[in-house]
Amino acid sequence: MNNVLLTTDSNDLQARVMEASDGRCIALSALDLPTEPADLLARLGHPSLPDVIVLDATHEPERALALAARIDQDLPGTAVLLIGEPAALAVPAMRVGARDVLPADASAPLLQETLSRVGSLLERRRAHAHPAVLVPDVQGAPGRVITVLSPKGGAGKTTVATNLAIGLAQYAPGAVVLVDLDVQFGDVATALSLQPEFTLEDVVHGAALRDPIAMKTHLTLHDSGLSVVCAPENPVVADSVTPEQVSELLTALARQFRYVVVDTAAGLEPRTLAALDHTTDPLLLTTFDVTGARGLRKEISTLRELGMLTNARQVVLNFADPKSGLGVADVEETIQSRVDITIPHSKAVTTSLNTGTPLLLHRPKDVVSKQLRQLLGVYTNVSEAARENRRSKR
Ligand SMILES: Nc1ncnc2c1ncn2[C@@H]1O[C@H](COP(=O)(O)OP(=O)(O)O)[C@@H](O)[C@H]1O
Ligand SMILES: [Mg+2]
Repeated sequence: MNNVLLTTDSNDLQARVMEASDGRCIALSALDLPTEPADLLARLGHPSLPDVIVLDATHEPERALALAARIDQDLPGTAVLLIGEPAALAVPAMRVGARDVLPADASAPLLQETLSRVGSLLERRRAHAHPAVLVPDVQGAPGRVITVLSPKGGAGKTTVATNLAIGLAQYAPGAVVLVDLDVQFGDVATALSLQPEFTLEDVVHGAALRDPIAMKTHLTLHDSGLSVVCAPENPVVADSVTPEQVSELLTALARQFRYVVVDTAAGLEPRTLAALDHTTDPLLLTTFDVTGARGLRKEISTLRELGMLTNARQVVLNFADPKSGLGVADVEETIQSRVDITIPHSKAVTTSLNTGTPLLLHRPKDVVSKQLRQLLGVYTNVSEAARENRRSKR
């Protein structure tokens, strides 16, 4: 059974949630909700974290939504339910990562059913979760794992993953590794002009998983200082890499690197799902068109069911074309999620991939590089505006 924290000023709702949670509920006033989850927990005066936080959003929906977003970000092991008008709150609630919206007059059995559904999702998530997902960013904590996903091939995963990793390597020299998990058709090595001595297959079968020094010697180094685990040459052998091995690999790498960037095959195949269990920052990519948006909608709803759609996610639309007649708002409506960054089409991308010269290093002024730097800023907290500023001052 779950411990519930409820914020409300309705005695009646409090009584129903109390009944639905078998008395495992602490209620606080919904007035003057803090914006920081830590402040809410301080009011609780209780050492253990609640499993589910139920926020009564009937009077101050904006504050409740703002707090829900922060809980999603800061306390990924905790689920949020909102109380309010479902028709009005459903979409904003989804955007901030809340699990459900129930009306203020929801019966105790309905509340109980929802709490137990959310509770079993949480349990499933915790059973798979890597400490990196549950422990906030403290010194010595595992590195961030950024996994680039898309429902279909050709959406630009490798383009985004390689450039993001290169950009991070410039920001944190020696502290970034890129893993090509597109085991059969991975082309990270080509994109970065690398001739690997060892590939994914050697790394997961040898001593590297247990020994950090062996690991370092099995990685391929790019001139930028980025370490890379390239995909195997032979697609048949590659398929012998199991999800469990992927899991061990990412655990080992996250202990040694500040950033682990993972490029994946299209869709949610078992190795990608294993990587997701260790992912702190999912990066969802799709083509900016109707079929791309529909595919992403399915992928997002699967991630949401797995409890993996935290606020740390980035949604990126590639091949953006202002003349297509499709707007960002249309895509947001279809995928029921916010879109964070759009990347336009640029010929320079294909040239860079074909010649193995990363765009961010060789064509920094290209429109796509500009958008990639904006994405980079999400993980380094340096905004494109600040960079432009710095550059113009030089
Ligand atoms: N914004 C873009 N503009 C032009 N071409 C692009 C862009 N993004 C990707 N491409 C091209 O599309 C193809 C597929 O990109 P890639 O990154 O390999 O996708 P994925 O890894 O998802 O299959 C490549 O030829 C790449 O050069
Ligand atoms: Mg690819």
